[in-house]
Amino acid sequence: MARFGVLTGGGDCPGLNAVIRAIVRRGNQLGHEFFGYRYGWAGVLSGDGAELTAEATRGILHRGGTILGTSRTNPYKEDGGLERVKASMEQHNLDGLIPIGGEDTLGVARKLADDGVDVVGVPKTIDNDLAGTDFTFGFQTAVQIATDAIDRLHTTAESHNRVIVVEVMGRHAGWIACYSGIAGGADVILVPERPFDIEEVCARVRNRHEHGRTFSIVVVAEGAVPKDGEIQTEFGGSKDAFGHERLGGIAVALEREIEQRTGFESRMTILGHVQRGGSPLAYDRVLGTRFGVAAVEAADAGNFGKMAALRGTEIELVPLDEALAEPKLLDPRLFETATVFFG
Ligand code: F6P
Repeated sequence: MARFGVLTGGGDCPGLNAVIRAIVRRGNQLGHEFFGYRYGWAGVLSGDGAELTAEATRGILHRGGTILGTSRTNPYKEDGGLERVKASMEQHNLDGLIPIGGEDTLGVARKLADDGVDVVGVPKTIDNDLAGTDFTFGFQTAVQIATDAIDRLHTTAESHNRVIVVEVMGRHAGWIACYSGIAGGADVILVPERPFDIEEVCARVRNRHEHGRTFSIVVVAEGAVPKDGEIQTEFGGSKDAFGHERLGGIAVALEREIEQRTGFESRMTILGHVQRGGSPLAYDRVLGTRFGVAAVEAADAGNFGKMAALRGTEIELVPLDEALAEPKLLDPRLFETATVFFG
């Protein structure tokens, strides 16, 4: 019998509860016990949490968010962080940790692994930008939410002859923008991987009008940047404990620029955290469940320093080093497919 600490860090994500439930259910079958840390690494540092039992994880599969809570705390930025993590594990009699998170949370996990802590990671982010896995859970749900929003914006854009700019999440990578843009029939998609030329965006909008269309939909990832320097965003400046700037607001600048340059009435919608909320799609519940089972089986086998990953249709274990080497950017072939339908 072993005891593992479980935590969820970074932005929340539909499917986190499916992972937690799967870890506990499978882990109990293997004879292990679990302690659920509250609020990610913040809970690990302070020792805050509770026993994670089968009873505590009942009825949560379909629920969004995370029953454990989350934060963007970086223990390596805190005084004596590593020692406090180890002390907290000792206090709760833990043999290892199963952190569920994205590049930041798992980046900490990788450092802890180097510092002698037994960890198995589970990849989480709606942005789908973690290398080592073909998909992260939560991504499909976010894409569906964004697609539903684009469908709705289409009908109002058409009624008013407007250009509507829809901003979706995607810090380093335009996966959500590209998938929801293709699914929602966007006329232009702007992603972080390809700095955009505002005149080219306007030319596509004008081209549609010249060919009899009276409205356009522009989907933009929050991390998209113009070719010739930064456009001022709403929150520019403030940074989190991992050094990430708070994003959001590129659509405000785009709405203004498109209207001024084309003369077509424009509006913008920032979907923001709506994309992270609510029930996970069946796909993400299944993927989260498979990740949870695989992660706890890896811990059971003493296979540490790894992350559960989807490769093709199979769940595999990949070294954390490999998964965190660099972000997984948009597949250029997918983007080329999207451009076929641009205005
Ligand atoms: O988890 C990644 C992400 O979804 C990014 O796309 C976004 O920039 C960030 O989270 C926003 O998170 P929060 O506002 O909760 O810090």
